[in-house]
Amino acid sequence: MSTPKPSTHKEPSLARRASAALAPYASVTVAAVVLRLFLGGTMLYAGIDKSLLDPRFLQAEGVGSIGETLRYFVTSGGPLAGLVEAVALPQPVLIGASMAGAQLLVGASLLTGSWVRYGALLGAGISLSLALTSTWGVSPYYYGNDLPYFVGFLALAALGDGGALRLGAPASRGHNPERRAALVSGTGIAAGIAALLVLDRSRAISAITGGGAPTPSLTPGASATATPSASAPTAGTVISGAPSLAAGQALNFSAGGTDAVLIKDGSTYRAFERACTHQGTPVNWQAGSGDFLCPNHGARFAASGQVTMGPANTPLRAIEVSIAADGTVTYRR
Ligand code: FES
Repeated sequence: MSTPKPSTHKEPSLARRASAALAPYASVTVAAVVLRLFLGGTMLYAGIDKSLLDPRFLQAEGVGSIGETLRYFVTSGGPLAGLVEAVALPQPVLIGASMAGAQLLVGASLLTGSWVRYGALLGAGISLSLALTSTWGVSPYYYGNDLPYFVGFLALAALGDGGALRLGAPASRGHNPERRAALVSGTGIAAGIAALLVLDRSRAISAITGGGAPTPSLTPGASATATPSASAPTAGTVISGAPSLAAGQALNFSAGGTDAVLIKDGSTYRAFERACTHQGTPVNWQAGSGDFLCPNHGARFAASGQVTMGPANTPLRAIEVSIAADGTVTYRR
């Protein structure tokens, strides 16, 4: 009777098991679908924002307007400044509408899987033109957001639609690990984009309600100032929720249709328009660092509204606020 031999079977290493678990996701299909959903979702949102949600964009003048944006492109001195001055500046609204339309087209192409390579090349062209104008002066270059989009679109143009999640494509029969992986990744990315849209809800709500109702939210974020005193209530519009602000906290509100923010700086209240003075993107109060950050190109503003980091070069626009003896905070425009 022979004695059983000791088993030579070894447990696969953690690295091998992780690699086996991730194998279905390591495919061209998944890479293409992830890029399509993120880039397509972002372009679709940018096009909807420019054409519907942001009432300032399709204007020749004013904060956040395409006219002001184009003037910035000219003064910032990028390689396309001369072209922008000669061709775009005389017809800003047409240029703004064309940009929004092109972004909608790219979004629709990528999300539906139709003519994806052409859509990706159009997206690359939009991103490159913005990198040579809008973010040309950003230093170091990696703070600029247009170059990564440009590279992402080029990669997608090379990959194509990935063969999955195409509108009108026949459903494949049976078990298809690549298709399943693409669906799982796609659902995750779509949920991520939905979460981003929800986080950016203040603009959407303001556009839908016409900016009528205050949209208070305690953010991780104001500058005429108001310090508590025994004064009688002053005329103005009450900022609901302001008395419950703790020092260092901020409250986003709508000041007659303008996206605004109130901060309590020590015992002093300050209020500002949220539009970044670079290109109008709403700034966010950073409770940790005690300043405002623009998520677009990284400009920073102190609690007083002064610029502490470019590319913006003028302070946030102040809103006059008053505080009554009963703690009510009001603003006046
Ligand atoms: S919009 Fe460019 S830094 Fe704010």
